[in-house]
Amino acid sequence: MCGIVGILGRDAVAADIVDALKRLEYRGYDSAGIATVQDGHLDRRRAEGKLRNLEALLNEAPLVGRTGIGHTRWATHGPPTERNAHPHMTDGVSVVHNGIIENFRELKDELTASGTTFSTDTDTEVVAHLITRERNTGASPVDAVHATLKRLEGAFALAIVFAGEDNLMIGARNGPPLAVGHGTGEMYLGSDAVALAPFTDTITYLDDGDWVILTRDSMDVRDAEGNAVERAVTKSVASALMVDKGNHRHFMIKEIYEQPEVISHTLSHYLDFAKGEVRDLSGSIDFSKISRVTISACGTAYYAGMIAKYWFEKYARLPVDVDVASEMRYREAPMEDGGLTIVVSQSGETADTLAALRYAKGEGQKIASVVNVRESTIARESDVILPTLAGPEIGVASTKAFTCQLSVLAALTLLAGKQRGRIDATQERRLVEALSEVPRHITTILKDEAPYEALAQDLSRARDVLYLGRGINFPIAMEGALKLKEISYIHAEGYAAGELKHGPIALIDENVPVIVVAPDDDLFDKTISNVQEVAARGGRIVFISETDAERAGCPIAASLPVPKCDSFVGPLIYTVPVQLLAYHTAVFMGTDVDQPRNLAKSVTVE
Ligand code: G6P
Repeated sequence: MCGIVGILGRDAVAADIVDALKRLEYRGYDSAGIATVQDGHLDRRRAEGKLRNLEALLNEAPLVGRTGIGHTRWATHGPPTERNAHPHMTDGVSVVHNGIIENFRELKDELTASGTTFSTDTDTEVVAHLITRERNTGASPVDAVHATLKRLEGAFALAIVFAGEDNLMIGARNGPPLAVGHGTGEMYLGSDAVALAPFTDTITYLDDGDWVILTRDSMDVRDAEGNAVERAVTKSVASALMVDKGNHRHFMIKEIYEQPEVISHTLSHYLDFAKGEVRDLSGSIDFSKISRVTISACGTAYYAGMIAKYWFEKYARLPVDVDVASEMRYREAPMEDGGLTIVVSQSGETADTLAALRYAKGEGQKIASVVNVRESTIARESDVILPTLAGPEIGVASTKAFTCQLSVLAALTLLAGKQRGRIDATQERRLVEALSEVPRHITTILKDEAPYEALAQDLSRARDVLYLGRGINFPIAMEGALKLKEISYIHAEGYAAGELKHGPIALIDENVPVIVVAPDDDLFDKTISNVQEVAARGGRIVFISETDAERAGCPIAASLPVPKCDSFVGPLIYTVPVQLLAYHTAVFMGTDVDQPRNLAKSVTVE
């Protein structure tokens, strides 16, 4: 997946394209490039690596031209080199692409057989050559694109410009999002409205299968058959302000520190603290009539879904199936008619999660989405939107969005328990109060980062790290391991503490740190038994708990204290130490914390 942008401007557009690409870097940062139409010809600049490399190149060799397209890449086909960087072009056509052309091999063979020479390893290059071949037979740019689109299979958002056409840009959408921005005598295309926010808040979202012909003052949207279709013009609320790091070293630590505030903000949207009650913001969901909930998501959001399963089943006595979206979309799981599917996604654009949503919809499910970006495709395709109020999350490793997802799902659990007669008013008040204390507890943890900094040096030497947790804290162990892997590149696994003896215990020796998430809940003693099994084999135990490390009854290498809290909110509190541990380890090792290698913030390919 990648970020794309296109501008039909009044003046030279390269600087504005760079500005928009900065807002899309969350979609990938393997390479970047821009092409413009200059004096009837196409010209481009491309650079491997982050956008700043392209900026440096443009300073040395500026691009002029009032019509242009730009791209920031997350490599799918072909290594992240300058050669493979977009835009891809022939003499007559230049293309940027987000997605995967799944039949590109067949198309490439066909083109090669008829004499086309390819200069990249990408799937995208076939699009430029197909359009060019059509143009060479005398087709107009519009007809050439239409004929080409009919040949493409897979997922794509495209922006296309043409030599000799200073007032024309064509976009197409099949899968990944694409928005048109309307200016005054200017027109824009972008992967999202945020990218276009500095220029316009007047946006048209294209539907799947749409393609659009733009000039500086016209928009002509067509469906797959080429018929003109109407698409609404909306006002976007995306902010033009670029979020900065404030006085923090990285976005990730800034976002960790924002948690008390954004959790508070999110909780107060769903809970009435004064009355000790949950608000009913679920729209048309009636949990008393639902017999099963399905939750689907990817990555960190999936772990939020796993935690919700424990909550819903225990407090609302409501069975939950939870599945990673990339599996759910193809599993052909039968779903109960009239059931509820909850999808969880920070970006609201994750391709697999969107596909899981569409599958569930096809199975007659009502769809509720827990999303951070309210204008996202997932939000727009849901029956009920349950927003997280985390604000923009820039660090690729999700932190505050995760704890806000948990906040929403905890509130929803209360609502479900109440509607199903499983939570009475006294219990509701107690649980609302427990949630209201979460920001204070997190603030307490954040007051002392010294133990994390000290431990980071030790962890940085490990080849493998194990995280253990039981019950509702098992997903926290998985989240801790994921955070460490993502940003420090140390291999880590999260395991259900009781499963340790069925395999991973074979890994334990004095070189393997074992991080134990051990809240003082009714499973504490069980967890401690597993800790002792580790200690007996020489493992180095890092103990994250609200209780005294001495209760472990065995040597502890390090202890990370957590404030005493109600076990209902444990996952919200115990997440913060595993975030800090991963962060400080990565900082000590000098990795690129906010933009770790090979990852992207929003994954719009499957
Ligand atoms: C990527 C990100 C993760 C995120 C996952 C799901 O892998 O790096 O941090 O958890 O996608 O993203 P979503 O936007 O759907 O929550």
